[in-house]
Amino acid sequence: MAHLLVFLGSARDSTPPTPARLGLRVARACVELLEASGASAKLIDPLDVDLGAIFKPHFAYAKSQVPEPLVALAAKIEAADGYVMVSPEYNHSMSPALAHLLNHFGSSHYAFKPSAIVTYSAGQWGGARAAVGMRTFLSELGCLPVSAMIHVPKAQEVLEEDGRFVSDAECWGDYFGRTLSQLLWWADACTRHRQTQDPHRLSPAFCQAPSQRNAP
Ligand SMILES: Cc1cc2nc3c(=O)[nH]c(=O)nc-3n(C[C@H](O)[C@H](O)[C@H](O)COP(=O)(O)O)c2cc1C
Repeated sequence: MAHLLVFLGSARDSTPPTPARLGLRVARACVELLEASGASAKLIDPLDVDLGAIFKPHFAYAKSQVPEPLVALAAKIEAADGYVMVSPEYNHSMSPALAHLLNHFGSSHYAFKPSAIVTYSAGQWGGARAAVGMRTFLSELGCLPVSAMIHVPKAQEVLEEDGRFVSDAECWGDYFGRTLSQLLWWADACTRHRQTQDPHRLSPAFCQAPSQRNAP
C-alpha cells in the first residue's frame, strides 16, 4: 500500500478574498480519494509546522541541532512513497507558503519519488499558471511531477469545507482520479525499483555547494 503526503499550500489567515484557506477543501478531497483507492495519505498543513522566523533549512544545521519540527517532517518526507502538492495561485505563481515549507529540505529527501500537481483558485483559471512553475520547482527537488495535473477553478463552488464535492462527484472523482492514479502507479514502480537499486548511490546528493552541479 502506497503512502502519500498531501502538502497543503495555504497558510492564509485573512479575508478578503473569502473564504480563507480554500485549499484545505482541495487537500481533503485528495486525501479522501487516495484513501478510497486503497492508499494511505496524510495531510501536511504548514500551520502545523513551526518553521521559526528565520529561514534556516534542515541541511544547514549540525545533525544534533536540527529543530524537532524539521526532524519530524524530514522523517515523514523520507518515509513517503510520493507527494501531492496542493497550491493556490497567488499572482500567477505557486504559493509562497508551500515553496517555503518545501525549501526547508534538500532534494535527497524527495528525490526518486513522484509528485502530483494540484492547483486551485477562487476564479476561473484554477491555478493553471501557478502549475507551470511548479513543474520546474518539483523537478529540481527530484520528485518529478506526473504528466496529468488537477486544476480546480472556483473551488469554493466545487468543494464543501470537509472536502466533499458539492455536485457532479463522479465527474470530479474521475478528473482527480486520472492524476492520482498516475501518481500511485509511479509511486508503486519507484518503491519497487528503489528496493533493487539504491538511486542515491548512482546519483549522490550534492552536499557542499550549488556549484557541484556545474559543468567542468
Ligand atoms: C495574494 C493573493 C494573490 C492572488 N492571486 C491570484 C491569481 O494570480 N490568480 C487567481 O486566480 N487567484 C488569485 N488569488 C485569489 C485566490 O485564488 C483565492 O484567494 C484562493 O482562495 C486562495 O487560496 P487560499 O484561500 O487557500 O489561500 C489571489 C489571492 C491572494 C491572497
